[in-house]
Amino acid sequence: MKKFDVIIWGASSFTGKLVCEYIYSKYGANSIRWAMAGRNEKKLKDIRAEVADSSIPIFIADSFDEESLSKFIIKTKVVCSTVGPYSLYGTKLVKLCVENNTHYCDITGEAHWIRTLIDNFHEEAKSKKLKIVNSCGFDSIPSDMGVYFIQNEIKKVYKNYAKSIKMRVAGIRGGISGGTYGSINNLLKEAHADKDIFKVLNNPYGLNPIDKMEGMDKKDLRKIIFDKESNSWIYPFIMAGINTKIVRRSNALSKFLYGKDFRYEEAMISGKGISGFLKAILAVFPLAMIGLNPNSFLKKIVDSFMPKPGEGPGVKKRRNGFYNLRFYITIDEKRKAFAKVIGDSDPGYGSTSKMLAESAICLAFDNLSKNYGVITPSSGMGDKLLNRLKENAGLSFELKIK
Ligand SMILES: NC(=O)c1ccc[n+]([C@@H]2O[C@H](COP(=O)([O-])OP(=O)(O)OC[C@H]3O[C@@H](n4cnc5c(N)ncnc54)[C@H](OP(=O)(O)O)[C@@H]3O)[C@@H](O)[C@H]2O)c1
Repeated sequence: MKKFDVIIWGASSFTGKLVCEYIYSKYGANSIRWAMAGRNEKKLKDIRAEVADSSIPIFIADSFDEESLSKFIIKTKVVCSTVGPYSLYGTKLVKLCVENNTHYCDITGEAHWIRTLIDNFHEEAKSKKLKIVNSCGFDSIPSDMGVYFIQNEIKKVYKNYAKSIKMRVAGIRGGISGGTYGSINNLLKEAHADKDIFKVLNNPYGLNPIDKMEGMDKKDLRKIIFDKESNSWIYPFIMAGINTKIVRRSNALSKFLYGKDFRYEEAMISGKGISGFLKAILAVFPLAMIGLNPNSFLKKIVDSFMPKPGEGPGVKKRRNGFYNLRFYITIDEKRKAFAKVIGDSDPGYGSTSKMLAESAICLAFDNLSKNYGVITPSSGMGDKLLNRLKENAGLSFELKIK
């Protein structure tokens, strides 16, 4: 039997510290056998003193040193990782988890890296009955679990699944960390250097099994348009690129339960009339700045204003944060429905740290579906995770039948 239930890898990261703080405040030191791991002993001890107590063990390792990683991976049921950019630091870790029969979860939004994991480790992890679950943070749990919730409720009432769901971000308040900004920059850098990465990012079905990469969805929204469904101007949502692919992978992994013709998309709402249109223009501007060529002079100026590794939104900003996601549902030609997913703190850190911690605990303790391999939150953890999100992580899921 493994000595630990969960080990938090990257406990000294901005998000990792919040995960440890949440686990200790909710579950203490004994009801879950957990430990912290990272590369800097002093930093880890300081964080442990701040958010937990000295009974929580610490492991020291480096992302590039297999021997040091194996020493803690072998001892735990689940590795929960917040060390990113994941395409730089994550591959050895996942490889070793698969080799050492350890489940794994993270909060990556790097679709091209998830593709690498699928191609290299899905079959082996599946044959060993292991769950490797990416994107257990704001990207992509509210989208993936939102669709899972909606489809199950719709099925109960109408006896079949919805044909199409359009998610609209109606409200969001939070901030960005240096790690997230660094991961976005790294993704852009890698994509500019390797055009195959753009192929994955541009393919709506880029995370589906290789022989099931077709469907009716088009690329994510890239401009400002008026949306009849929400009666509002809409503009691109930065997380759509990962979220929509995760939702489509969930459908593919569940043998296309929602149908091969199921459609899903995401966008931001900015309101009606001229003010809604102007709001959308103002909101798109920073997105364009982030997406600039990584080698350009202007991008370097933008970078100098952004948070550095280890930095992120403070306590007040996290507590005052929230998100409000609306889902416009088409069941069939005649029937429509509407759903909401709401989070009680800032999406990227307050809420993400709770979602990730609950995912790791779910993998360690709950009696889950027989879906294994490199999978998604909903296909891997289903109802058990949904209940944990509602009961512990401050998310609410609501469906209104029209
Ligand atoms: N899905 C979501 O909603 C979501 C939300 C938040 C964050 N994220 C992602 O989560 C990741 C972490 O973000 P963050 O802001 O928390 O990051 P961060 O504060 O910059 O922390 C990065 C961590 O990586 C560690 N690290 C770097 N190189 C290492 C190495 N060679 N060996 C071992 N550890 C190493 C650092 O260790 P030291 O502390 O020793 O420097 C630090 O703990 C990013 O990829 C971000 O995009 C996703």
